Amino acid sequence: RQPVEQHRIPVDADGNHLVDPGFGTRDDHDRDLDTRRRMRPFWLSGKQTFADTELTVESPWDGSVVDAVCTPTDVQIEQAVSDLHTVQAEARATPAHVRAAALDHVSGRLAERAEEVARLITAESGKPLIWSRGEVARAASTFRWAAEEARRFSGELQRLDTDAGATGRMAVVRRFPRGPVLAITPFNFPLNLVAHKLAPAIAVGAPVLVKPAPATPLSALLLGELLAETSLPPAMVSVLPVANDRMPALVEDPRLPVVSFTGSGPVGWSLRTQVPRKHVTLELGGNAAVVVNDDWPDIRAAAERIALFGNYQAGQSCISVQRVLVHSAVYEEFVDKLVVAVSELRTGDPTGEGVQVGPVINEAAAQRIMAWIDEAVLAGATMLTGGTREGNSVAPTVLTGVPREATLATEEVFGPVLTLERFDTIDQALASVNDSRYGLQTGVFTRDLQLAFRAHRELEVGGVVIGDVPSYRAEQMPYGGSKDSGIGREGVKAAMLDLTEDRVLVLTGLDL
Ligand code: SIN
Repeated sequence: RQPVEQHRIPVDADGNHLVDPGFGTRDDHDRDLDTRRRMRPFWLSGKQTFADTELTVESPWDGSVVDAVCTPTDVQIEQAVSDLHTVQAEARATPAHVRAAALDHVSGRLAERAEEVARLITAESGKPLIWSRGEVARAASTFRWAAEEARRFSGELQRLDTDAGATGRMAVVRRFPRGPVLAITPFNFPLNLVAHKLAPAIAVGAPVLVKPAPATPLSALLLGELLAETSLPPAMVSVLPVANDRMPALVEDPRLPVVSFTGSGPVGWSLRTQVPRKHVTLELGGNAAVVVNDDWPDIRAAAERIALFGNYQAGQSCISVQRVLVHSAVYEEFVDKLVVAVSELRTGDPTGEGVQVGPVINEAAAQRIMAWIDEAVLAGATMLTGGTREGNSVAPTVLTGVPREATLATEEVFGPVLTLERFDTIDQALASVNDSRYGLQTGVFTRDLQLAFRAHRELEVGGVVIGDVPSYRAEQMPYGGSKDSGIGREGVKAAMLDLTEDRVLVLTGLDL
């Protein structure tokens, strides 16, 4: 997005800004925007900082202006990177209790301000409040887990006196940060996926620069605000809504040896090509499958769960259900129940209580989803429900008979669309799950323990969920994909390992 307006922020004789835009209530925001047109500052090395270009944040629901956010200049970006580089040693040496206390602080503040934060997420992302509230609770858990892991992260002792020549030797193996982290985050979980970058980095003492998605910078900036309340070295964290066209230089900057990216496949893989010698972690897309086996005792419950998690936050989750594979023996019963459950989902204004499905992020996304649906139908698919659009809202849609080569069958739709397929044997079902260039998570509705272990062994994915949808994620779980779904794992502990590397200390002459 291009800057839409230029503003100068008034300063006093010492150069201090005369306005203090903390995060207030919605009414405060409106008054601010309408009367003073204040711009939200970003967080540069722990300090709120203004600039004279901005991006506007618009509601995906009705296009209204939610807020205006300063975007940093090249000089400010350079300052943040230079500070990150300089603070490395101090950050690495920060005691665990300081890091853990900071993480606990953020967790507690999110819980205290939960409703306000949920409304902020909904305003910028169009995500219905029920999901935004869940996201705030999850982010509080992410920071709490990171605090706990920071206290535990200790390394190991390794004995070396296993050879005669090494008598009296012992190794201490500890993990140290690879270096400052450039964290690039997506719009679909504007709080918790930022939390999953920030919290593990802080837990291991790695400085971090967050670049939030241009559509949803507000939740990330709120985390910048909460972190500025802590005793961490201020230069350890910057949250900068950097324009996308400034990113190549930042990605290539040698002072940021770790790039952790969550977002689309083409962007992610091009980053890796751009900086092959950096440590690059990619959390990319998926077209998650769920298998409903004929031993599952409650077909209605499975159908309702799949209906909801094919459409939660309008399908804009990398692990929302897209491909539904159902055993022939229960297929007819399942389809009837699924179509009823999908048609009964509550759609509409994301701020409405009880609304389950809101808009997608913008009009281009809505148009793309509709084009993929139309393409599948033209190629012979049958629409069982949905297939319409109003503004940025796509009606929850179920299709069957989608040809294998249709875009909907092969790509990640990232919208409220389910495709149905029938199978006769488990061999067919597992082969069909694996017949995808993606591999993030899969759900298998079964009570058959042998099948659970077989699915775990044979499915080419980062996670298998038995008895539920693939959309289940707990913050402490390793999370990430195989194949085109990415490289590396997040989840608090897994990310801490990813951001660090072993360093050995060999002790000699010990009287063991
Ligand atoms: C994602 O879209 O990859 C994140 C899913 C989640 O955290 O639930």
